[in-house]
Amino acid sequence: MNETAIDRSAAGGRRPSRPGKAGVPPAQPARAVAGSTVAASPAPRDAPAAAPLVALAQRHLLGIQGLLAGEIELILDTARAFAEVSRRPIKKVPTLRGKTIVNLFMEPSTRTRSSFEIAEKRLSADTLNFSLLDSSVSKGETLLDTARNLEAMAPDMIVIRHRAAGAAHLLARHCRSNIINAGDGSHEHPTQALLDAYTIRERKGRLEGLRVAIVGDLMHSRVLRSNLFLLRTMGADLQVCAPPTLVPVGLERLGATVHTRIEPALEGADVIMMLRIQRERQQGGAFPTAREYFNLFGLTRERVRLAKKGAIIMHPGPINRGVEIDSAVADGPESVILEQVANGVSVRMAVLYLISGGTLGELAA
Ligand code: MLT
Repeated sequence: MNETAIDRSAAGGRRPSRPGKAGVPPAQPARAVAGSTVAASPAPRDAPAAAPLVALAQRHLLGIQGLLAGEIELILDTARAFAEVSRRPIKKVPTLRGKTIVNLFMEPSTRTRSSFEIAEKRLSADTLNFSLLDSSVSKGETLLDTARNLEAMAPDMIVIRHRAAGAAHLLARHCRSNIINAGDGSHEHPTQALLDAYTIRERKGRLEGLRVAIVGDLMHSRVLRSNLFLLRTMGADLQVCAPPTLVPVGLERLGATVHTRIEPALEGADVIMMLRIQRERQQGGAFPTAREYFNLFGLTRERVRLAKKGAIIMHPGPINRGVEIDSAVADGPESVILEQVANGVSVRMAVLYLISGGTLGELAA
Protein backbone atom coordinates (compact mmCIF):
# COMPACT_ATOMS: atom_id res chain seq x y z
CA MET A 1 0.00 0.00 0.00
CA ASN A 2 1.23 3.49 -0.62
CA GLU A 3 0.04 6.86 0.50
CA THR A 4 -1.29 7.78 -2.92
CA ALA A 5 -3.64 4.83 -2.81
CA ILE A 6 -4.85 5.63 0.67
CA ASP A 7 -5.35 9.28 -0.23
CA ARG A 8 -7.37 8.20 -3.23
CA SER A 9 -9.44 5.84 -1.13
CA ALA A 10 -10.10 8.54 1.41
CA ALA A 11 -11.09 11.14 -1.15
CA GLY A 12 -14.82 10.41 -0.95
CA GLY A 13 -15.09 10.13 2.81
CA ARG A 14 -14.59 12.30 5.84
CA ARG A 15 -11.09 11.84 7.14
CA PRO A 16 -10.55 10.69 10.69
CA SER A 17 -9.03 13.36 12.91
CA ARG A 18 -5.40 13.30 13.90
CA PRO A 19 -4.54 12.62 17.53
CA GLY A 20 -3.22 16.20 17.87
CA LYS A 21 0.15 17.80 18.56
CA ALA A 22 0.81 15.70 21.60
CA GLY A 23 -0.36 12.72 19.63
CA VAL A 24 1.27 9.75 18.05
CA PRO A 25 4.96 10.16 17.20
CA PRO A 26 6.37 9.20 13.83
CA ALA A 27 6.41 5.48 13.27
CA GLN A 28 9.87 3.91 13.24
CA PRO A 29 10.38 3.28 10.39
CA ALA A 30 7.67 4.90 8.29
CA ARG A 31 9.27 3.66 5.10
CA ALA A 32 6.06 2.73 3.31
CA VAL A 33 4.83 6.29 3.22
CA ALA A 34 7.44 8.66 4.54
CA GLY A 35 8.50 9.79 1.10
CA SER A 36 4.95 9.34 -0.18
CA THR A 37 6.31 7.58 -3.21
CA VAL A 38 5.43 4.17 -4.47
CA ALA A 39 9.12 3.38 -4.80
CA ALA A 40 9.55 3.72 -1.03
CA SER A 41 7.34 0.65 -0.52
CA PRO A 42 8.87 -2.78 -0.82
CA ALA A 43 8.17 -4.29 -4.22
CA PRO A 44 5.15 -6.57 -4.08
CA ARG A 45 6.40 -10.14 -4.31
CA ASP A 46 3.13 -11.73 -4.98
CA ALA A 47 1.23 -9.70 -7.49
CA PRO A 48 1.90 -7.67 -10.59
CA ALA A 49 2.68 -4.00 -9.97
CA ALA A 50 -0.60 -2.93 -11.53
CA ALA A 51 -2.75 -5.20 -9.30
CA PRO A 52 -5.62 -3.42 -7.55
CA LEU A 53 -4.87 -2.43 -3.97
CA VAL A 54 -7.49 -4.74 -2.67
CA ALA A 55 -8.15 -4.01 0.95
CA LEU A 56 -7.59 -0.43 1.83
CA ALA A 57 -8.49 1.10 -1.52
CA GLN A 58 -11.88 -0.61 -1.27
CA ARG A 59 -12.15 0.47 2.37
CA HIS A 60 -12.72 -3.09 3.59
CA LEU A 61 -10.43 -5.69 5.17
CA LEU A 62 -11.88 -9.01 4.09
CA GLY A 63 -8.73 -11.12 4.06
CA ILE A 64 -4.97 -11.13 3.64
CA GLN A 65 -5.21 -12.83 0.25
CA GLY A 66 -4.47 -10.22 -2.38
CA LEU A 67 -2.80 -7.72 -0.03
CA LEU A 68 0.53 -6.45 -1.28
CA ALA A 69 3.70 -6.42 0.78
CA GLY A 70 3.58 -2.62 0.94
CA GLU A 71 0.00 -2.67 2.27
CA ILE A 72 0.98 -5.13 4.98
CA GLU A 73 4.00 -3.03 5.94
CA LEU A 74 1.84 0.08 6.08
CA ILE A 75 -0.59 -1.56 8.50
CA LEU A 76 2.30 -2.79 10.68
CA ASP A 77 4.00 0.62 10.67
CA THR A 78 0.71 2.32 11.57
CA ALA A 79 0.17 -0.20 14.38
CA ARG A 80 3.58 0.70 15.74
CA ALA A 81 2.57 4.33 15.87
CA PHE A 82 -0.62 3.41 17.73
CA ALA A 83 1.24 1.15 20.19
CA GLU A 84 2.52 4.34 21.78
CA VAL A 85 -1.06 5.36 22.64
CA SER A 86 -1.53 2.14 24.62
CA ARG A 87 1.54 2.97 26.75
CA ARG A 88 0.14 6.34 27.86
CA PRO A 89 -1.65 6.86 31.19
CA ILE A 90 -4.70 8.13 29.23
CA LYS A 91 -5.11 5.63 26.42
CA LYS A 92 -7.49 7.55 24.22
CA VAL A 93 -7.18 9.66 21.06
CA PRO A 94 -10.02 11.46 19.25
CA THR A 95 -9.11 9.89 15.91
CA LEU A 96 -12.48 8.20 15.18
CA ARG A 97 -14.71 10.53 17.22
CA GLY A 98 -18.17 10.63 15.66
CA LYS A 99 -17.77 7.28 13.88
CA THR A 100 -20.08 4.42 14.76
CA ILE A 101 -18.80 0.85 14.63
CA VAL A 102 -20.98 -2.25 14.92
CA ASN A 103 -19.33 -5.42 16.21
CA LEU A 104 -21.42 -8.31 14.86
CA PHE A 105 -20.10 -11.50 16.43
CA MET A 106 -22.10 -14.55 15.36
CA GLU A 107 -19.55 -17.03 16.77
CA PRO A 108 -18.01 -17.17 20.24
CA SER A 109 -14.98 -14.93 20.74
CA THR A 110 -13.18 -13.52 23.74
CA ARG A 111 -9.90 -12.06 22.53
CA THR A 112 -10.86 -10.78 19.09
CA ARG A 113 -14.09 -9.18 20.19
CA SER A 114 -12.67 -7.46 23.25
CA SER A 115 -9.56 -6.43 21.31
CA PHE A 116 -11.65 -4.72 18.61
CA GLU A 117 -13.79 -3.08 21.26
CA ILE A 118 -10.79 -1.73 23.17
CA ALA A 119 -9.22 -0.51 19.90
CA GLU A 120 -12.45 1.27 18.94
CA LYS A 121 -12.76 2.88 22.36
CA ARG A 122 -9.13 4.03 22.31
CA LEU A 123 -9.91 5.73 19.00
CA SER A 124 -13.04 7.33 20.57
CA ALA A 125 -15.52 5.62 18.20
CA ASP A 126 -19.06 4.81 19.35
CA THR A 127 -19.50 1.05 19.44
CA LEU A 128 -22.46 -1.31 19.39
CA ASN A 129 -22.07 -5.01 20.12
CA PHE A 130 -24.30 -7.72 18.71
CA SER A 131 -23.80 -11.40 19.35
CA LEU A 132 -25.65 -14.38 17.95
CA LEU A 133 -27.90 -14.48 21.00
CA ASP A 134 -28.81 -10.77 20.89
CA SER A 135 -29.41 -10.76 17.16
CA SER A 136 -32.54 -11.70 15.26
CA VAL A 137 -30.56 -14.38 13.42
CA SER A 138 -31.46 -16.60 16.38
CA LYS A 139 -35.12 -15.90 15.40
CA GLY A 140 -34.60 -16.91 11.79
CA GLU A 141 -33.49 -13.64 10.17
CA THR A 142 -30.79 -13.96 7.48
CA LEU A 143 -27.36 -12.43 8.02
CA LEU A 144 -27.98 -10.01 5.19
CA ASP A 145 -31.29 -8.81 6.67
CA THR A 146 -29.61 -8.32 10.05
CA ALA A 147 -26.81 -6.34 8.41
CA ARG A 148 -29.22 -4.23 6.37
CA ASN A 149 -31.24 -3.42 9.47
CA LEU A 150 -28.09 -2.40 11.29
CA GLU A 151 -27.08 -0.33 8.29
CA ALA A 152 -30.35 1.55 8.40
CA MET A 153 -28.93 3.08 11.60
CA ALA A 154 -25.97 4.35 9.54
CA PRO A 155 -22.89 2.82 11.16
CA ASP A 156 -19.58 3.65 9.51
CA MET A 157 -18.05 0.20 9.91
CA ILE A 158 -19.16 -3.34 10.65
CA VAL A 159 -16.72 -5.79 12.21
CA ILE A 160 -18.06 -9.27 11.55
CA ARG A 161 -17.25 -12.74 12.82
CA HIS A 162 -19.30 -15.58 11.37
CA ARG A 163 -19.10 -19.35 11.16
CA ALA A 164 -19.64 -19.26 7.38
CA ALA A 165 -16.67 -18.65 5.08
CA GLY A 166 -17.42 -15.66 2.87
CA ALA A 167 -19.78 -13.88 5.31
CA ALA A 168 -17.66 -10.71 5.34
CA HIS A 169 -17.44 -10.71 1.53
CA LEU A 170 -21.24 -11.00 1.36
CA LEU A 171 -21.69 -7.94 3.58
CA ALA A 172 -19.10 -6.00 1.58
CA ARG A 173 -21.08 -6.64 -1.61
CA HIS A 174 -24.38 -5.49 -0.15
CA CYS A 175 -23.62 -2.89 2.54
CA ARG A 176 -22.39 0.68 2.36
CA SER A 177 -20.43 0.44 5.62
CA ASN A 178 -16.74 -0.50 5.66
CA ILE A 179 -16.49 -4.20 6.50
CA ILE A 180 -13.74 -5.80 8.58
CA ASN A 181 -13.51 -9.58 8.71
CA ALA A 182 -12.94 -10.76 12.30
CA GLY A 183 -12.89 -14.44 11.24
CA ASP A 184 -15.14 -16.25 8.73
CA GLY A 185 -15.42 -20.01 9.24
CA SER A 186 -12.24 -21.80 8.22
CA HIS A 187 -11.46 -19.14 5.64
CA GLU A 188 -9.54 -16.08 6.94
CA HIS A 189 -8.77 -14.14 10.11
CA PRO A 190 -6.80 -11.20 8.72
CA THR A 191 -6.28 -9.15 11.88
CA GLN A 192 -4.89 -12.23 13.66
CA ALA A 193 -2.27 -12.74 10.94
CA LEU A 194 -1.43 -9.04 11.04
CA LEU A 195 -0.91 -9.06 14.80
CA ASP A 196 1.16 -12.23 14.46
CA ALA A 197 3.31 -10.53 11.82
CA TYR A 198 3.61 -7.44 14.00
CA THR A 199 4.75 -9.55 16.96
CA ILE A 200 7.31 -11.42 14.85
CA ARG A 201 8.64 -8.21 13.34
CA GLU A 202 8.96 -6.54 16.75
CA ARG A 203 10.85 -9.56 18.13
CA LYS A 204 12.95 -10.53 15.10
CA GLY A 205 13.19 -7.20 13.27
CA ARG A 206 11.94 -8.64 9.97
CA LEU A 207 9.74 -11.26 8.35
CA GLU A 208 11.68 -11.99 5.20
CA GLY A 209 13.81 -15.12 5.31
CA LEU A 210 12.56 -16.30 8.70
CA ARG A 211 11.73 -19.97 9.07
CA VAL A 212 8.23 -20.21 10.53
CA ALA A 213 6.83 -23.58 11.69
CA ILE A 214 3.04 -23.77 12.01
CA VAL A 215 1.75 -26.89 13.77
CA GLY A 216 -1.82 -28.00 14.50
CA ASP A 217 -5.20 -28.25 12.84
CA LEU A 218 -4.24 -27.06 9.37
CA MET A 219 -7.50 -28.25 7.90
CA HIS A 220 -9.87 -25.97 9.77
CA SER A 221 -7.70 -23.02 10.75
CA ARG A 222 -8.47 -19.58 9.32
CA VAL A 223 -5.42 -18.34 11.24
CA LEU A 224 -3.26 -20.70 9.17
CA ARG A 225 -4.71 -19.49 5.87
CA SER A 226 -4.28 -15.80 6.67
CA ASN A 227 -0.77 -16.42 7.97
CA LEU A 228 0.20 -18.38 4.86
CA PHE A 229 -0.92 -15.56 2.59
CA LEU A 230 0.83 -12.95 4.72
CA LEU A 231 4.08 -14.74 5.45
CA ARG A 232 4.50 -15.92 1.87
CA THR A 233 3.95 -12.38 0.61
CA MET A 234 6.60 -11.14 3.05
CA GLY A 235 9.12 -13.80 2.02
CA ALA A 236 9.16 -16.14 5.05
CA ASP A 237 10.03 -19.84 4.76
CA LEU A 238 6.89 -21.77 5.77
CA GLN A 239 6.98 -25.22 7.36
CA VAL A 240 3.57 -26.62 8.34
CA CYS A 241 2.73 -29.78 10.25
CA ALA A 242 -0.34 -31.84 11.19
CA PRO A 243 -1.54 -35.44 11.23
CA PRO A 244 -2.32 -36.50 7.63
CA THR A 245 -6.06 -36.35 8.44
CA LEU A 246 -5.77 -32.62 9.18
CA VAL A 247 -3.74 -31.55 6.13
CA PRO A 248 -5.90 -29.91 3.44
CA VAL A 249 -5.18 -30.66 -0.20
CA GLY A 250 -3.10 -28.04 -2.03
CA LEU A 251 -1.19 -26.47 0.88
CA GLU A 252 2.07 -26.77 -1.05
CA ARG A 253 0.59 -24.54 -3.73
CA LEU A 254 0.31 -21.82 -1.07
CA GLY A 255 4.06 -21.99 -0.65
CA ALA A 256 4.34 -24.23 2.44
CA THR A 257 6.44 -27.35 3.02
CA VAL A 258 4.11 -29.93 4.58
CA HIS A 259 5.24 -32.30 7.35
CA THR A 260 3.31 -35.05 9.10
CA ARG A 261 5.94 -35.37 11.88
CA ILE A 262 6.61 -32.44 14.17
CA GLU A 263 10.37 -32.87 14.59
CA PRO A 264 11.47 -31.94 11.04
CA ALA A 265 8.96 -29.08 11.00
CA LEU A 266 10.55 -27.51 14.10
CA GLU A 267 14.18 -27.96 13.07
CA GLY A 268 15.93 -24.61 12.73
CA ALA A 269 12.69 -22.60 13.17
CA ASP A 270 12.90 -18.93 14.14
CA VAL A 271 9.21 -18.90 15.01
CA ILE A 272 6.92 -21.72 16.18
CA MET A 273 3.20 -21.07 15.86
CA MET A 274 0.91 -23.63 17.46
CA LEU A 275 -2.73 -23.94 16.38
CA ARG A 276 -5.68 -25.26 18.34
CA ILE A 277 -7.55 -28.39 17.31
CA GLN A 278 -10.83 -26.89 16.05
CA ARG A 279 -13.20 -29.52 17.41
CA GLU A 280 -16.23 -27.35 16.64
CA ARG A 281 -15.40 -27.51 12.91
CA GLN A 282 -14.35 -31.17 12.75
CA GLN A 283 -16.57 -34.08 11.82
CA GLY A 284 -14.59 -36.05 14.46
CA GLY A 285 -12.18 -38.94 14.18
CA ALA A 286 -9.16 -36.96 12.89
CA PHE A 287 -7.01 -38.64 15.58
CA PRO A 288 -7.73 -41.20 18.32
CA THR A 289 -7.33 -39.21 21.57
CA ALA A 290 -6.07 -35.85 22.82
CA ARG A 291 -3.33 -37.71 24.72
CA GLU A 292 -2.09 -39.40 21.57
CA TYR A 293 -2.19 -36.08 19.71
CA PHE A 294 -0.09 -34.48 22.45
CA ASN A 295 2.40 -37.34 22.36
CA LEU A 296 2.90 -37.02 18.62
CA PHE A 297 2.32 -33.32 17.92
CA GLY A 298 2.33 -31.46 21.24
CA LEU A 299 4.96 -28.77 21.82
CA THR A 300 7.15 -29.82 24.74
CA ARG A 301 10.34 -28.24 26.13
CA GLU A 302 12.31 -31.05 24.52
CA ARG A 303 10.86 -30.33 21.09
CA VAL A 304 11.43 -26.58 21.44
CA ARG A 305 15.18 -27.39 21.53
CA LEU A 306 14.96 -28.46 17.87
CA ALA A 307 14.26 -24.85 16.89
CA LYS A 308 16.89 -22.12 16.57
CA LYS A 309 18.23 -20.60 19.79
CA GLY A 310 16.05 -17.60 20.57
CA ALA A 311 13.04 -18.95 18.66
CA ILE A 312 9.71 -17.51 19.79
CA ILE A 313 6.57 -19.52 20.56
CA MET A 314 3.22 -18.18 19.36
CA HIS A 315 -0.40 -19.24 19.64
CA PRO A 316 -3.52 -17.31 18.59
CA GLY A 317 -5.47 -18.65 21.58
CA PRO A 318 -7.49 -20.09 23.07
CA ILE A 319 -4.74 -22.52 24.08
CA ASN A 320 -5.51 -26.10 25.06
CA ARG A 321 -2.84 -26.96 27.59
CA GLY A 322 -1.70 -30.55 27.36
CA VAL A 323 -3.24 -30.98 23.87
CA GLU A 324 -1.24 -28.85 21.42
CA ILE A 325 1.11 -27.23 23.93
CA ASP A 326 2.65 -28.10 27.28
CA SER A 327 2.01 -25.57 30.06
CA ALA A 328 5.75 -25.25 30.65
CA VAL A 329 6.13 -24.02 27.05
CA ALA A 330 3.01 -21.83 26.98
CA ASP A 331 4.23 -20.02 30.12
CA GLY A 332 7.95 -20.33 29.34
CA PRO A 333 10.52 -17.68 28.44
CA GLU A 334 10.17 -18.13 24.66
CA SER A 335 6.39 -17.65 24.72
CA VAL A 336 5.07 -14.39 23.23
CA ILE A 337 1.42 -15.47 23.49
CA LEU A 338 0.36 -12.57 25.74
CA GLU A 339 2.40 -10.13 23.68
CA GLN A 340 0.32 -11.20 20.69
CA VAL A 341 -2.83 -10.28 22.63
CA ALA A 342 -1.42 -6.88 23.61
CA ASN A 343 -0.25 -6.15 20.05
CA GLY A 344 -3.69 -7.06 18.72
CA VAL A 345 -5.11 -3.80 20.07
CA SER A 346 -2.59 -1.60 18.21
CA VAL A 347 -2.97 -3.60 15.02
CA ARG A 348 -6.76 -3.28 15.13
CA MET A 349 -6.47 0.45 15.86
CA ALA A 350 -4.31 0.72 12.74
CA VAL A 351 -6.76 -1.24 10.60
CA LEU A 352 -9.76 0.81 11.79
CA TYR A 353 -7.85 4.05 11.20
CA LEU A 354 -6.61 3.13 7.71
CA ILE A 355 -9.96 1.70 6.60
CA SER A 356 -11.67 4.91 7.66
CA GLY A 357 -9.36 6.85 5.35
CA GLY A 358 -6.45 7.82 7.62
CA THR A 359 -2.84 7.83 6.47
CA LEU A 360 0.33 7.09 8.36
CA GLY A 361 1.80 10.32 7.02
CA GLU A 362 -1.01 12.31 8.66
CA LEU A 363 -0.64 10.41 11.91
CA ALA A 364 3.05 11.13 12.07
CA ALA A 365 2.74 14.81 11.08
C1 MLT B 1 -9.84 -17.99 15.77
O1 MLT B 1 -10.79 -17.26 15.93
O2 MLT B 1 -9.69 -18.62 14.74
C2 MLT B 1 -8.90 -18.11 16.93
O3 MLT B 1 -8.23 -16.95 17.13
C3 MLT B 1 -8.05 -19.31 16.85
C4 MLT B 1 -8.83 -20.47 17.35
O4 MLT B 1 -10.03 -20.36 17.57
O5 MLT B 1 -8.24 -21.51 17.51
